[in-house]
Amino acid sequence: MKHTLLLAMAGLLSASLLQNADAAEPDGRAVFTRNCSVCHTINPPPKTAPPIGPIAGRYRQKFSSKTSGVASMVNFLKAPSREKSVVDPDAIERFGLMPPMPGLSDTELNAVAEWIWDQPWGGRSQGGGKGKKQQGNADCQ
Ligand code: HEC
Repeated sequence: MKHTLLLAMAGLLSASLLQNADAAEPDGRAVFTRNCSVCHTINPPPKTAPPIGPIAGRYRQKFSSKTSGVASMVNFLKAPSREKSVVDPDAIERFGLMPPMPGLSDTELNAVAEWIWDQPWGGRSQGGGKGKKQQGNADCQ
């Protein structure tokens, strides 16, 4: 009797673990680690792309709501272009335009974009370029 109970509990446990790993709602951080961290660090110093913290700060500065910021980021990720870029143009000068990320589903892109939006960046309002320019209100629109 006890054994059956234990077995049942173990079964439940592994079922929920499996679900987490393979969920319909993908974990944004995991998507990032798997697909983006080759180029992006979360905080400076950068690898071959601007770090996520300043990117997040930039999106929060440009968009008044998370929904619109995330939608715009997903749109960029599907087909990166200068026109859609929200970061400091210096970042594209310095790192080049981001290559498209094929093979990620809309839900994965959404999850990773939401996760990026939530990354804290308390300090200066942006990153990307290495502070060549005055980082003031100049580009606050
Ligand atoms: C091969 C390197 C590389 C990979 C992999 C990569 N990125 Fe990038 N990413 C870049 C570079 C370079 C830039 C800076 C130039 C630009 O904005 O296009 C950038 C810029 C960005 C930006 C700013 C967009 C803007 O407004 O200009 C976001 C957001 C972003 N990446 C998210 C991601 C996410 C999410 C992933 C994983 C799904 C990812 N990146 C994977 C190289 C990469």
